[in-house]
Amino acid sequence: MKNPRRAPIHVKNRKMRQVGDEINLLSESPLYEYRIKNKYFPVVGEGDCNARIMFVGEAPGRNEAKTGRPFCGAAGKVLDTLLAHVGIPRTSIYITNIVKDRPPENRDPLPKEIKIYGPFLDRQIEIMRPKVIVSLGRYAMGYIMKKFVLDSQLEPISRAHGKAYKAKASYGDISIVTLYHPCVAVYNPHNIDNLKKDFEVLTGLNK
Ligand code: URA
Repeated sequence: MKNPRRAPIHVKNRKMRQVGDEINLLSESPLYEYRIKNKYFPVVGEGDCNARIMFVGEAPGRNEAKTGRPFCGAAGKVLDTLLAHVGIPRTSIYITNIVKDRPPENRDPLPKEIKIYGPFLDRQIEIMRPKVIVSLGRYAMGYIMKKFVLDSQLEPISRAHGKAYKAKASYGDISIVTLYHPCVAVYNPHNIDNLKKDFEVLTGLNK
């Protein structure tokens, strides 16, 4: 039977570029002026559009906004360590954020920012059709759990970290994995072992 996840990669890439073009021109975003003033880039996402696993972070930091690439700063180094720990090459996944522009001073994203960028993430999920969506941190967790009608199972990230949930996407059954944001090991390097342990839940889902 034809795999319902598999559209030709050039079609997925073209649709993803279209999403990026629209974000680039998103002058109605409350973060647009800040982007332009600082000569920042929006961070649309990076990786294999046919990947089985999509990672969703919170919002770009300064390094990401300067380069247009997700998780290329300190939190990205932690993410690379965690991926290496479970043998998942970064090139084999897709990484994006809910909010595609940098909030000033790395503050938490505001509800109105999540509201304006969320539909772009929704479209990216529909284009990619990932089998596993990994949320990094409580904002991504809240958005993804609600999107897939898992509200009743929402818990604080201190309890939800390292858990996997079954959910239904428009294109079939998927797993949602809720993990701590890698920045918790930037603030406190002692956390890395707990993060590594949580990441091990992905080994069973990456096939
Ligand atoms: N933190 C995030 O949530 N996303 C990034 O891209 C970088 C840091």
